Amino acid sequence: MEIKFLNNKIENIQADLEIVLLKKHKLLKANDRFIQKNKLYVKIADFKHYTITETLSNTIKYIHKTNKYKSIKLSLYGISDKKIQALIDGLILGGYDFTKYQSKTKKLKLKDIFIAKENFINSDNFIDYEEIKLLINKCIIVNNNINITRDMINSVAEDTTPIKLSKWIEKELEDSNIKCIVKDEDYIQKELPAFYDISKGSVNNPRLVHLKYNENKGYKKVVLIGKGVTFDTGGMSLKPSNYMYDMRLDKAGAVTIFGIIKTINDLKLPIEVHSILGLSENMISNNAYKPGDVIKTRKGKTIEIMNTDAEGRILLADLFEYSQDKIKKIDYIFDYATLTGSVVGAIGQYSAGLIGHNNKLKIKMIKISKKTDEEYVDLPFNRYFFENSYQSAIADFSNIPTSSIGGGTIMGGVFIDNFLEKKYKNKWLHIDIAGVSFIKSSWKYHQYGATGFGVKSSMYMIKKLISNSSV
Ligand code: BES
Ligand code: ZN
Ligand code: ZN
Repeated sequence: MEIKFLNNKIENIQADLEIVLLKKHKLLKANDRFIQKNKLYVKIADFKHYTITETLSNTIKYIHKTNKYKSIKLSLYGISDKKIQALIDGLILGGYDFTKYQSKTKKLKLKDIFIAKENFINSDNFIDYEEIKLLINKCIIVNNNINITRDMINSVAEDTTPIKLSKWIEKELEDSNIKCIVKDEDYIQKELPAFYDISKGSVNNPRLVHLKYNENKGYKKVVLIGKGVTFDTGGMSLKPSNYMYDMRLDKAGAVTIFGIIKTINDLKLPIEVHSILGLSENMISNNAYKPGDVIKTRKGKTIEIMNTDAEGRILLADLFEYSQDKIKKIDYIFDYATLTGSVVGAIGQYSAGLIGHNNKLKIKMIKISKKTDEEYVDLPFNRYFFENSYQSAIADFSNIPTSSIGGGTIMGGVFIDNFLEKKYKNKWLHIDIAGVSFIKSSWKYHQYGATGFGVKSSMYMIKKLISNSSV
């Protein structure tokens, strides 16, 4: 399916079907539709951002379902050029279907979606074709990358073992300007020993993937760190079956930062980005790490394992120490992780938990994300959370809070904070996507499964940080 933007009048474009959005139609309810000759009329309630996205998402789903048309054109007179993103989001994200594991899939007929310049008006009633084309192409790039991200997260654990996922990522980046460095289990055992310990229960060896874009070119430097647990059984502190079932989602953090760096590369943004992905399974076996073990991070900090299911924070601890060692003078550090189930209880499944010391940076993220239809909720630290909350009788830290003070998602952030150098405390955001990265029933333009949350808002956030460094 390809979206083509033409400098043409709608009536001069040849297509099998014309989609006509009707705002003023008394008899129709929102999303009602009917076909007359070769026109599909769809009622749209208003031209708000999310209404456009959802209406187009429903429409494209309908077109795919009928599977009758090879080409369609859109008649959306009256839509503003500011709503381009809403339009393209609806078409590409709404048109996504994860059919990889279905034996009988119909081949989709739809090849071309034509959008005409005539579709857009702006306040001056004058718009430049090339400018809109550029905007449309940017939105297409972002959304196609979100769909790759969704594909990776949706794919089952056997197809996305650390080795297979690292190869898939390398392949996706083959033609990019991103340098891919993949480190194996021997390197991880030596250099990131805590990461190694959480992985050793699995026959599928871990991988560390370091993606570099624009290294040493003098740009601002953003480091993205991602939890990539390709399957989380909980380990010896085994999860109950119904909690374990969809734990292929536990690699979402790592996959998201692959999606972000790829998008930044595709848009050629002038910034240095590093994505550090820790890929590991958390399995149960005679070789798995155990409750009561004391493990050591790269820098020699010791952690007593009180629950092998709190594996993500251990992985992140080593990835943090590795990143700060390897990359000098970092401007921003953002980590993405499906870290705590409790984030859903705290804020629901429609947004990510946003944690960090720098309020201005958090506010900026929240503001930007609203424009991209991805929501973050501020989960504030307070100093009491830091008081002896991870005390162990025998090691520097325990890996779960040792007194029940609640706030599990914030406490995840409190743990990782211990592995961040002082100079970076104010440059860091921790993003818990355990709820929003994977949904069980369709929502907005998302189907069951991976949402691809984070790629779009983070790309815009990073873009903003290039031009404004006051936070
Ligand atoms: N991967 C899970 C978190 C998770 C739960 C993600 C549900 C998505 C949906 C994580 O490794 C985990 O198990 N965390 C524990 C932490 C606890 C033991 C401190 C949790 O959330 O229960
Ligand atoms: Zn876990
Ligand atoms: Zn996990």
